[in-house]
Amino acid sequence: MFNYFRRLIKALPLLALTFAGMMAAQNEEPALTCTAAEMAQQQAALAQALAAAANQMADDPYAALDTWFKTGAAAQEAALNCGYVPPDVATRAVGADVPRILNLLDEVSGDPLNGQLLYNSDTLACYGCHVTQAGEAAPALDGTYTRAEETRLHDPALADYTISQYLVESIVHPGQYVSPGYDNVMPNNYGERLSLQDLADLLAYLESQDGESPE
Ligand code: HEC
Repeated sequence: MFNYFRRLIKALPLLALTFAGMMAAQNEEPALTCTAAEMAQQQAALAQALAAAANQMADDPYAALDTWFKTGAAAQEAALNCGYVPPDVATRAVGADVPRILNLLDEVSGDPLNGQLLYNSDTLACYGCHVTQAGEAAPALDGTYTRAEETRLHDPALADYTISQYLVESIVHPGQYVSPGYDNVMPNNYGERLSLQDLADLLAYLESQDGESPE
C-alpha cells in the first residue's frame, strides 16, 4: 500500500505535465495563412464595400442589403483564406483548395465504414464508375491505396506528392492529374458536395484499400 502511494506521488508531476500539455494543445490556434498587412488590406476592401452600401440605402435599400449580404460572405471567405477554422468546419463543404484541406484534415478523424456507405451511395455514386475490377471506365476501387503508393506516386508529374495529397486532389480536383489510360470524366464538383467529415471518411475507406491493385 505504502509503495503504491509512493509511486503515485512520484508520478504526479508527470501527470500534471501531461495535463498541462493537453490544455495547451486545446488552446492552440491554427496557423495564420496571411500576414497582418494582408488582413488589413482585405479589411479595407470590405470597409469600402460597406461604405458603398451606406450610400445606396436612400435610393435602393434592397441593393444596399444585397451588398451587406455579399460583404458578409466575402468577410467569411477572407477569414477562411487567412487560416480561420470555423467551429463547424467538419460539416461545411470542403472546397477544392488541396493544401487547405490537408491542414484541416487534422481537425477530424475519418470513419472508414461511413466512407464505404458514402462511396456506395446513390448521391455520390463513386461506385457507379469505380467498380472493383480493372479495365472499366475508371480505376478499380480494389488496391486504390497500393496503386497510389506503388504506381501513381512514381510518375514524375506527381513528384513530392504524398498519398493523402494525391487522394484528396483526385477527389476534389480530378482534372488536375488524369490517371494514365482514362478520360477526365469524374465530376469536378465534389468539393461543393462533400463536407470535411465526408471527405475524411471517404479517405479512410480508400486508405483501407491496400490490397493488390488489379492494374
Ligand atoms: C463519372 C465517373 C466517376 C465518378 C462518379 C467518380 N469517379 Fe473517381 N475517377 C473516374 C475516372 C475516369 C478516374 C481516372 C481519371 C482521373 O484521374 O480523373 C478517376 C480517378 C479517381 C481516383 C484516382 C484513382 C487512381 O487509381 O489513381 C480516385 C481516388 C477517385 N477517382 C475517387 C473517387 C471518389 C471517392 C468518388 C466519389 C466521391 C469518385 N471517384 C467518383 C471516374 C469517376
